[in-house]
Amino acid sequence: MKILATYNIKGGVGKTATAVNIGYLAASDGYRVLLWDLDPQGAASFLFRIKPRVKGGGKALIRGRRTLDDAIKGTDFDRLDLLPADFTYRNLDLVLDAAKQPAKRLASLLAPLHCEYDVVVLDCPPSISLLSESVLHAADLLLVPLIPTTLSVRTLDQLTQFVGGFDGHQPDILAFFSMLDRRKKLHAEIVRDLPEQRPDVATAAIPALSVIEQMSVQRAPVTAFAPRTAAARQYRELWREARERARLPAAPR
Ligand SMILES: Nc1ncnc2c1ncn2[C@@H]1O[C@H](COP(=O)(O)OP(=O)(O)OP(=O)(O)O)[C@@H](O)[C@H]1O
Ligand SMILES: [Mg+2]
Repeated sequence: MKILATYNIKGGVGKTATAVNIGYLAASDGYRVLLWDLDPQGAASFLFRIKPRVKGGGKALIRGRRTLDDAIKGTDFDRLDLLPADFTYRNLDLVLDAAKQPAKRLASLLAPLHCEYDVVVLDCPPSISLLSESVLHAADLLLVPLIPTTLSVRTLDQLTQFVGGFDGHQPDILAFFSMLDRRKKLHAEIVRDLPEQRPDVATAAIPALSVIEQMSVQRAPVTAFAPRTAAARQYRELWREARERARLPAAPR
C-alpha cells in the first residue's frame, strides 16, 4: 500500500482537484484506492457525491473508538472508496495533541488497511499543523501543487527542508505546476525551466482551465467526464509520474 498526499500550506492551489483525479486514475488503472478527505470543508466528499459525515466525528477515528473501515463509503467508481470529511475535522489538531505520538497517528491508523488498498490518497486542508505533520509522516509521496511563481518555489524549498528534518521515515516530494496560464510570460518561463533543473518538479503541469472548475458542477473528476481534454491529459501524465516515483507495483488487473 502506497500513501500519496496532496499537500500545500497554501489554500486554493488545486490540492483537492488533484487528489480526486489521481484517486480516480489509480482506480481506473486497477488499483484498489481509498481517498481520505481530511478537510472539514469536505470538497472531495462533495465531488464524489458523498455526505461529509463521520459518526462520532474525527475524534472517534483518531482515538480509535471507531475503525476507519467503519466510516468508509463506496463511490460511483469501481475500486474507489472514500473516507468522508466531517465538520469536526476542524478540531483534529486538538484531538491529535491529546494522542500518543501525534505525528505518527495517521500512519498507525492507516496501517491495518494495507491488505485492502493498494493506494491511499490523503486530501489535506491548507495549513501547517499537527494534522499536516501527521500526514507528512504517513505519506510515501507528497504531491505539491505550485502556482508558477518564484515564491511558490521558495515554499517548496521550505517544505523540503522541513521534511528533511524528520527522524526515520521521510516522504518523497513531487511538486507540479497547477493553474498554469501560458499567456503569462513568467508562468511560461518557470514551467519551461524548472522541471529540467529540479528532479522534484514533475514534467506534467496542470493548466488553468474552466473544464477543471466544471468538476464542482458535474460532481466528478474531469478525467472521468472529459477524458479527452488537455486537463485530463495532464492529470494522466502527473499520475504516471507519481506512480513511478512512488514505485507502485503493476496493478493487479
Ligand atoms: N487547473 C485549474 N484550472 C481552473 N480551476 C481550477 C484548477 N484547479 C482547481 N481549480 C478550481 O479552483 C478552486 C480551488 O481548487 P481546489 O479546491 O482543488 O484547491 P485546494 O488547494 O484543494 O483548495 P483548499 O486549500 O481550499 O482545500 C476550485 O473551485 C477548483 O475547481
Ligand atoms: Mg482542498
